[in-house]
Formats: sequence, structure tokens, C-alpha cells
Amino acid sequence: MRYKSQSVAYWYFAVAMVLFGLQIVFGLLSATKYLGPDPLLYLLPFDVTKVIHTNLLIVWVLTGFMGATYWMVPDESRTELHSVKLAYIQLGLWVTMGVTAVVGYLFRYGTGNKLLEQPLPHKLVIVVVMLIFLYNIGMTIKKSGRFTTTEGVLLLGVGGAAVLFFPALFEYKNYVVSIFYRWWTIHLWVEGVWEMIQGGFLAYLLIRLSGADREVMEKWLYVIVGLVFIAGILGTAHHYYWIGVPGYWLPIGGIFSALEPVALVGMAIYAYSAIRRSGMAHPNTLALHWTVGSAVYTLFGAGLLGLAHTWPAVNKWTHGTLITAMHGHAAFYGAYAMIVLAMISYALPAMAPGRREQGTTLGYWSFWLQITGMFGMTLSFATAGIGQVYLERILGLGYLDAQLKIQVHFLMLIVTGALFAVGVALFIIDFFRYAPKFELTRDVEPVGGAVGQPGA
Ligand code: HEM
Ligand code: HEM
Ligand SMILES: [Fe+2]
Repeated sequence: MRYKSQSVAYWYFAVAMVLFGLQIVFGLLSATKYLGPDPLLYLLPFDVTKVIHTNLLIVWVLTGFMGATYWMVPDESRTELHSVKLAYIQLGLWVTMGVTAVVGYLFRYGTGNKLLEQPLPHKLVIVVVMLIFLYNIGMTIKKSGRFTTTEGVLLLGVGGAAVLFFPALFEYKNYVVSIFYRWWTIHLWVEGVWEMIQGGFLAYLLIRLSGADREVMEKWLYVIVGLVFIAGILGTAHHYYWIGVPGYWLPIGGIFSALEPVALVGMAIYAYSAIRRSGMAHPNTLALHWTVGSAVYTLFGAGLLGLAHTWPAVNKWTHGTLITAMHGHAAFYGAYAMIVLAMISYALPAMAPGRREQGTTLGYWSFWLQITGMFGMTLSFATAGIGQVYLERILGLGYLDAQLKIQVHFLMLIVTGALFAVGVALFIIDFFRYAPKFELTRDVEPVGGAVGQPGA
């Protein structure tokens, strides 16, 4: 740890770990309900467990983003954070918002708008938290006078995420209008600004883990981010096919969203070639597994499995089925869960003495169990989804009849989900088993990280 204030990141990561664990509990609970009978039907029905599962996901991933940003910005700008106190106030507000939202869902207190179910008071707290966060980071960079491209991309992503939350603050009477704007937040988050956040962390990690030259890495980061934008913005229309808007959205959505994987191919090549060409400049190979793993898994989950159902002629059969869940899991996990786990794996040895810099055995077990488990879950959702589409949409079977016929895939989902859950449990145990101790190190910047920036 080079700066004392970086220690706030630890507490953000700790909260993220707890919420990640809870998310998985509610995921497994949701999965068992496919098999029925459901003893919790009147207490915790599927809709409630699923809302809690997906909301915990968003909250823990964002907590991870915030912690990782508070870790990375002092390193990049070579300064202490503007205000540690504000960072803790932000965390307190954020956790209170998250916990009360989840408790509220248990009592059906929510807006019912998928992934944006938070009631208005909670949404306003989210806005306040975002403003505190941006202010604190902005002031830190301003005071230091050193602003790197890597943190610029990250900041654009974080700022963009805050701005794109605004459409979610309003209530729309018309259902079509409501869905139309819902995607300005959800799609433009996961296929736009969050990818910039991922790109910023990816560049930071690759520069520090490999011997890659900062200037080269940052030049390619621009290209990748540019590609995301060109395709991602109009790609929003792949959610407009069947919602009641004019037909011209069909070709627009098909063509532009089909271009989105190009940026993801670029990102995977970027990560792979950085390591291949420049080798390792840092002992933390576990963090490297998560880093390169994130880029590759994103290509698989978002690029390949997104592309698989993005064309209108395919999507008219698969829309809203388990095929969507197949892609949603692999994409979200690869892009956002894995990059947060990469940042945690990189930062942790500096905050918990005694932990091996190369990564612990438990850490590697966790990596491989999660990767294998998530791959199995993706296949389970895929096979279930193909069966569902065929039975329900082509043969015309009723929804519940079709669900009964694909139960074997749900069994497979639970088995592979359990494997994944063991991997997550190991990560959490590995996180908490070394007590934190925040000592400053005097290590010098790695070679790749030492190249000065314009304005530095
Ligand atoms: C990291 C990037 C991505 C993440 C995290 C992600 C995640 C998700 C999630 C969670 C959903 C379900 C949303 C909902 O119904 O509320 C979804 C839907 C969808 N995604 Fe992605 N996605 C990503 C990238 C992509 C890409 C690159 C493509 C296309 C090439 C794509 C194509 C689609 C399509 C077509 C749907 C709609 C499915 C339907 O009609 O039911 N996604 N995505
Ligand atoms: C043991 C692990 C997990 C299990 C058993 C599980 C199970 C489930 C189930 C049953 C659903 C409801 C699907 C439906 O609507 O029919 C769901 C939704 C979802 N889960 Fe998970 N999940 C797990 C872990 C994860 C992880 C790690 C992530 C992301 C990093 C994730 C992201 C999502 C998303 C984005 C949705 C909404 C998808 C959609 O609406 O199509 N889940 N999950
Ligand atoms: Fe999308």
C-alpha cells in the first residue's frame, strides 16, 4: 500500500464480499424453486428471491467498483484521497440503502421495474452516494494535478453510470415508454459505461502486473472504448424489437449490437498480448488469472453468447427465456464480477500482511471452482433455454408444461451452481482469514507504470 487512505478500499471490498455471498444464497434459492414443490411459496416466492438475487448483484458489484476506484486513484494520481471521512460516509449511506432495499423487497416494497426495483427514496440515496463519490475522486485528482488516461476512462465510466441513472428516477405511465427508457440505464450501463470501468481497471492491472508499456496500453484502451461506444449506443435497440416502437429499430438493433463483440475481441487480445509480449513484472499471478480471465470470459459470455441471440430473427424466439439468463450470467460474471475479484486479489496482499503475494492455494481453488461452476451453469441455462424455446415457442406448449419437461437441466443448474458457490465461499474465507493491517510500503512504481503522462 503506497498511500494510507487506500485502506478505505478494504472496507468496501469486505462489504462486497458479504453481499456477494448473500447473492449466491438467493441465486441457489431461486434455482431450487424451478424444481418445486416450494415450501417457501408464501414466504419467499420466486419473484422475491430473484429480485433480491439481482439487486444484491448490482449493489455488491458497484461496492466493488467504488472500493477498487478508491484503491486505484491514489496509485494513479500519486496522492492521498481528498477525504477519507467522506468515503466512509458514502459507504455507510450505501450499505444502509442496500440493506433496507433488500428488507423492503421481502415486504414487496419496490417499483417492479426489473433491475431498477429500488423505491424512490432509495434511488435518491443512490444519487447522493454517486455525487459524494464523484466529488471525492474529482477533488483527489484535481489536487494531485496528475491525471492518467487509465483513470480518465474509469472516471468517464463512473460519471456516465451516474448520469445514466437519471432516467430511472422517473415513473412513466405508459408501459412502452417505461421499457424504452429502462434500457437507457440498464443496457447503456452494462454495454457502455460499465465497460469503460472494466477497461480502466483492466488497463491498470495489466500495466502493473505485466511489463507492458503504459503508453501502448493506454493507446489501445482508447481504441477499445471507442469501439464500445460506436456499437453500444445504437445497440440499445436490440431491446426495442418487441416493445411496441416502430419497426426501423429492428435492423438498427441487429446491425449495431452485432458489432459490439468486436470491442470485446479487442479487449481479450489486449489482455492476452500484454502478458505474452511483456511477461510478468509482479509476483501476483492469482490477480493475473482473474484479470485475463475477466477479459476472456467477457468475450465468451457477452460477445459470443450475446451475439447468439441479438439478431431479431433469433431473438423473436428466445426473448425473455432462459437463453437470456444463460447470457446474463456468463456476461455479468465475466465482465463485472471477475474484474472486481481481480482488483481485490491485486490489492489484498498489501492490506493483509501474511498473505502470499503470489496468491494462496485457497485462492486458486476458488478461481477454478468458480470458472468451472459458472461454465456449467451457463450450459445448464443454455440447454434448458433451447428446450424451452422449442417446446414453448415452436410446439406451443404452455409455460408450466414446458418447464416440467426441462427439469433435468435445472438439476444440472443446481449441481453446477453448488460447485460455483463453493468457489465463492473459498474466496470469501480467503478474504477474511488474514486480519487487515494497513502499513505503507516504499516500493517503487513498476516499469510500465513509471511512464509520465501529459499533465503529470
Ligand atoms: C458485459 C456485457 C454484458 C452484460 C453484463 C449483459 C447482460 C445482460 C442481461 C443481464 C440481460 C437481461 C436483461 C433484462 O432482461 O433485464 C441481457 C440481455 C440481452 N443481451 Fe446482454 N449483456 C452484455 C453484453 C451483450 C452483448 C455484447 C450483446 C450482443 C452482442 C448482448 C445481447 C443481449 C440481448 C439480445 C439481450 C436481450 C435478451 C432478450 O431479448 O430477452 N449483450 N444482457
Ligand atoms: C449459485 C449461483 C447462482 C445461481 C444458482 C443463480 C440462479 C439464478 C436464477 C434461478 C435466476 C432467475 C432466472 C429466471 O428469471 O428464470 C437468476 C437470475 C439472474 N442471475 Fe443468477 N444465479 C447464480 C449466480 C449468479 C451470479 C454470480 C451472477 C452474476 C455475476 C448472476 C446474475 C444473474 C442475473 C443478471 C440474473 C437475471 C437474468 C435475467 O433476468 O435474465 N447470478 N439467477
Ligand atoms: Fe443490451
